[in-house]
Amino acid sequence: MTVTRITHPVITHKINLLRDITTNSKDFREIVTEVTFLLTYEATRDLRLSKTMIPGWHGGDLEVDMVADEDPSIVPIFRAGIGMQEGFLSVFPTAKVSYVGYYRDEETLDPKLYYAKLAERAQERTNYVLDPMLATGGTTSAVCSLLKKAGVRKIKVLCILAAPEGIRRIETDHPDVEIIPAMIDSHLNENGYIMPGLGDAGDRLFGTK
Ligand code: URA
Repeated sequence: MTVTRITHPVITHKINLLRDITTNSKDFREIVTEVTFLLTYEATRDLRLSKTMIPGWHGGDLEVDMVADEDPSIVPIFRAGIGMQEGFLSVFPTAKVSYVGYYRDEETLDPKLYYAKLAERAQERTNYVLDPMLATGGTTSAVCSLLKKAGVRKIKVLCILAAPEGIRRIETDHPDVEIIPAMIDSHLNENGYIMPGLGDAGDRLFGTK
């Protein structure tokens, strides 16, 4: 499994704005979009190019390199993953969008699927799972299993913050999945929050409690 670590002063600065509890929802959403935009460049670095003829400005045809891969699918996990959707789509507007939703079973604490609508021919696409917070990794691991059951072979996980615990969980359950975190934090606290983290990403994005 690969963890692709991105270190860039702009990303560091923007993430630290997210940590600031005085950053309001509007700014929080915009910064998550900007960080996802930057992450998407890194995550799509391995796209293949192929030669294509285009009409050039001078009247003749021009042979150029264009992206050859099938349009990707993004898989935002309800609810906070939706906050990363716009950033990805602004880099890759033709990506398909597969939504998945899970709730936590009160007794077993296992993630239970309540919604899934995958892109058509999802198995032929690279699937980019979007969840700002890779905490325990339980839900993200369940999403990877769901996608694999649907025949998907290439999965990448994009997150704003990852905890080492969540990375280890994906490493164990899905060694073939690449994780691309904008930053790796210290640990999870006793309530499963990433530390130092930024709090509940869904609440911060959507102004809820
Ligand atoms: N989900 C969040 O929104 N925040 C955390 O710190 C952990 C999980």
